[in-house]
Amino acid sequence: MVDIQDVIGRLSLEEKVSLLAGQDFWSLPAIERIGLRSLVMSDGPIGVRGTGWAPDDPSVALPSPTALAAAWDPALAETAGRLLGQEARRKGVHVVLGPTVNLQRTPLGGRHFECYSEDPLLSGEIAVGFVRGVQAQGVGTTVKHLVGNDFETDRMEVDVRIDERTLREIYLAPFERVVAAGGWGVMSAYNGVNGSPMASNRRIQQEILKDEWGFDGVVVSDWRAARSTVGAALGGLDIAMPQLENPWGAALVAAVRSGEVPEELIDDKVRRVLRLDARVGALGTPAEISDVYDGDRIAHEVAARSFVLARNENFTLPLEPAALTRVAVIGALAMDARVLGGGSAQVSPPHTISPLEGLARALSGVDVEYAVGADPRPFLPALHGPTRVTIGSHSFSVDPAAVRWIGSLPGGLDPARVDGLRLETTCTPDETGPHTFAVSGFGTFQLKINNMLAYEGSLHPPNTGRAELLLLPREQRVTVELTAGVPAEIVLDQFIAPGAAHSVATTLGHRPPRPDEDGMIEEAVRLAAESEVAVVVVGTTEQVESEGFDRTSLALPGRQDELVSRVAAANPRTIVVVNAGSPVLMPWSSEVAAILLTWFPGQEGGAALADVLLGVTEPGGRLPTTWPRAEADCPVLAIEPRDGVVSYDEGVFVGYRGWLRSGKAPLYAFGHGLGYTTWTYDELAVDATEAMVTVSNTGARTGREVIQVYVSPTTPDPSRPSRWLAGFANLEAHPGETVTVRVPLPERTFQLWNNGWQTIPGDYTIHAAHAVDDLRLSATLTIPEESAAGLPGRP
Ligand code: BGC
Repeated sequence: MVDIQDVIGRLSLEEKVSLLAGQDFWSLPAIERIGLRSLVMSDGPIGVRGTGWAPDDPSVALPSPTALAAAWDPALAETAGRLLGQEARRKGVHVVLGPTVNLQRTPLGGRHFECYSEDPLLSGEIAVGFVRGVQAQGVGTTVKHLVGNDFETDRMEVDVRIDERTLREIYLAPFERVVAAGGWGVMSAYNGVNGSPMASNRRIQQEILKDEWGFDGVVVSDWRAARSTVGAALGGLDIAMPQLENPWGAALVAAVRSGEVPEELIDDKVRRVLRLDARVGALGTPAEISDVYDGDRIAHEVAARSFVLARNENFTLPLEPAALTRVAVIGALAMDARVLGGGSAQVSPPHTISPLEGLARALSGVDVEYAVGADPRPFLPALHGPTRVTIGSHSFSVDPAAVRWIGSLPGGLDPARVDGLRLETTCTPDETGPHTFAVSGFGTFQLKINNMLAYEGSLHPPNTGRAELLLLPREQRVTVELTAGVPAEIVLDQFIAPGAAHSVATTLGHRPPRPDEDGMIEEAVRLAAESEVAVVVVGTTEQVESEGFDRTSLALPGRQDELVSRVAAANPRTIVVVNAGSPVLMPWSSEVAAILLTWFPGQEGGAALADVLLGVTEPGGRLPTTWPRAEADCPVLAIEPRDGVVSYDEGVFVGYRGWLRSGKAPLYAFGHGLGYTTWTYDELAVDATEAMVTVSNTGARTGREVIQVYVSPTTPDPSRPSRWLAGFANLEAHPGETVTVRVPLPERTFQLWNNGWQTIPGDYTIHAAHAVDDLRLSATLTIPEESAAGLPGRP
């Protein structure tokens, strides 16, 4: 055991302060004299990138966080966390920067995919499972972003106004749950809340998080969120990241010397940092880990468990492989799946399995034919095939031809000594005709095809921040005639200014000869008409759904809606697979036989998809967020800061709470999701501490059911939602089997925030439900007056 107090006593003020600020993009300094190694942090939350983004050190990519939440299974989240803890240990990372528990307040939120749910209890429970899993491996977490970072527009500057009750009941609730469960870290948000930037928000970071909740871990700033030396120090922040534009260091030492910041406060921060160092083994001996988690298997399982079967007319799914001879697979994303969302949550997986590949592999005796149909991507996809990447003296291989990193360089290279990057590959076309190649990124490029100069120029629009360039690079295209079977040598050189190599997002794009847009749709319709089943994969693109900006529309980009309607008219067995991290509009929903929502499904997505479509496994997901029929129906939609402020005027009526209040019917409600078997809800028994629900599997297959328990005040009270999720349980049962689950009803279920947690006495209706709009059994529970007296309440 390390005596932390003793260690603090041996440090100078300068040394103590040095432990509170990044020494580079991802780590804190070591102090060898006290046996302290450098503490390394890394994103998070779908994989562990490591200090380098480079694909020469790949990372398992799990499905997007919303997908993990869609399984409604904290135990599965814990398994995912254990795997990522193991990944972190493998990569020398001490702290995983996640989970993200901001709420899905509006479906336009750019990082909606990275958040778990629109419900604070579901978000909190999944986060607790994840945090337990990661921390069980001796690796830290930072639940993020505290608080109100539920959208991206002006995220660095905006002030979010949230009334105290809403803050406590909705937005802080998942953080509180993670802290109560023993989370070791919190990341504070870019935005301000109620007039104070979060990195220096004393009310929330110090008074609520540390003093009231008793949090003993560290508060890490979001990257470049800490902008004031004294404000952040007094406001409860413990670590300012990264080194770039860091307001601490010498300025904080000076502020202590001048008496503006008490040294005891610095000691408290250092104590927290050293406690974390000891927990993760940067100080003392790292915990042994013996478990070996199989990344491919877990990524596959989480994907299948997350897919939500939203519609399944006439039991179209599962398909019977033996009865199939010809299957049409349609859509740009069927070939190039978006397996993960954009921004800091990106990792470089060792491989990805697209829907087309997954289905073609699983249906080996069947004719699986592909047509693009409609391509919504404004940029060309990266060229497939092994590509040699050379940067400075370091070389490695990628497939497809794209590289992206921020911070450390591949091979640990020094950015000051790097002046270029080269991508080299051979493209052997299947088709003769005009092939389009594209350079995308930022900087100066030279593209040679068969040793002929094809493009030379700079892609560097003015007035754009480096982070935005990484998220939204520019593109230049060239078209060359190639002959089928004749290899073309492609060399893309990028010239990099000294010191600028720490931010790179370069793609060598390619598109083979293609008909025009009308022709592509017609080709897909023809293929669908000639096939027994048409699987159409539609979704969003990096340009419309990513960290760094919010969406402007929920419509599917490009001509994908038209494609689905026309394919459905040509083939009644049209199955639509939606590859989007957050809700999209589906105006064709009643025209198609089946709809499967697959989120950003991670590296094994295509294999999991094949299993689910062919009935090897059930789609296990239930919606963690409401899917609207029309944008205008959403209780909260637009994100328009006015004078730098976004007000959460809807109060606690967010997500399904808002839908229930407006009385509008969404396309698919919170909690909705079909399986491949049928269930009866047989019995519900409640007392003041739990609901007991008995269900039977009445179908012919083993299946899973997510039992959802909602609570309604029996006498409606307009200041409270008409019902809210009180708990849930996940079960599996064989055909004919009856299972009883117990869902705890903690006292918080019946409380609201009124200058403190207050239990509201009276009659409540407890519902056992399949979804918030599909209530199966109910019972009444009376909460007596006496329990209303001043209980502190635990989440
Ligand atoms: C994101 C954080 C992330 C950090 C480090 C920020 O821009 O908001 O979620 O952990 O970058 O990559």
